[in-house]
Amino acid sequence: MKFEFETIKKDYSDFSSDRVLINAPRTPAFPVRVASEIMARCLSFIDSSDGISIYDPCCGGGHLLTVIGFLHSANLNNVYGTDIDDRALDYAKRNLNLLTMDGLLQRKKSIQCNYDKYGKESQLEALCSADRLASMIIDSDKSLKDIQCLKWDITSSKPPFFRDINIVITDLPYGNMAHWEGIMKNNPTEQMFNNIYQILDLNNSVVAIVSNKNQRIKHECFKQVKRLKHGKRQFTFLRPLRF
Ligand SMILES: C[S@@+](CC[C@H](N)C(=O)[O-])C[C@H]1O[C@@H](n2cnc3c(N)ncnc32)[C@H](O)[C@@H]1O
Repeated sequence: MKFEFETIKKDYSDFSSDRVLINAPRTPAFPVRVASEIMARCLSFIDSSDGISIYDPCCGGGHLLTVIGFLHSANLNNVYGTDIDDRALDYAKRNLNLLTMDGLLQRKKSIQCNYDKYGKESQLEALCSADRLASMIIDSDKSLKDIQCLKWDITSSKPPFFRDINIVITDLPYGNMAHWEGIMKNNPTEQMFNNIYQILDLNNSVVAIVSNKNQRIKHECFKQVKRLKHGKRQFTFLRPLRF
């Protein structure tokens, strides 16, 4: 993949797990530059002038969604995540809460307490990161209307109750750390697409699926608009068809 939006490799250490963001055990970390590039490409397919709603149906610890929330805060009205795993969701809730100024200041306070107690260099770095993250959301804090994170099996027969979603970004369960769970054992991706389709704004939406290179990502209600490969991952961008 050629980076068309995140053309310059920056220092993304403010997003490092367990600095300000919290790392969920056994959740694979997603490269920040790649996350931002995928989001920017999604935005290039739709109209985001009035702000958009984003949803990750397999949000894990919410790292991907939170990173996108910071880097693209100016575009976001609503941020939604679901996962089947209660433990991962606990982390996702804590991470997504950082996208609000109140949540971030609370986190900064707890890092400050630890720094006052132990005086570690890493805690001081975390405090500086928290300040830089705060400057990223200061203008958008008021425009962010809703953040929700809940338990949902995206392979079940019904979609969650979110509506008019503009961007779905998800890192599918694959590899050693995460696998599909839930009711639909046969073709979980097919049922995930069935559910996603029902909650999209069909006039203004795009879906970006991160998977391994061997997975064929397609569905009869969606048209592939782009496919990219990067390292061991593939990114498939699809837009919903209107019937
Ligand atoms: C690759 S991880 C996602 C990591 C996430 N992007 C992050 O930043 O932490 C895939 C996730 O899919 C979840 N998952 C597996 N089966 C699911 C299902 N049926 N419905 C919803 N989530 C599911 C797993 O619990 C796991 O958290």
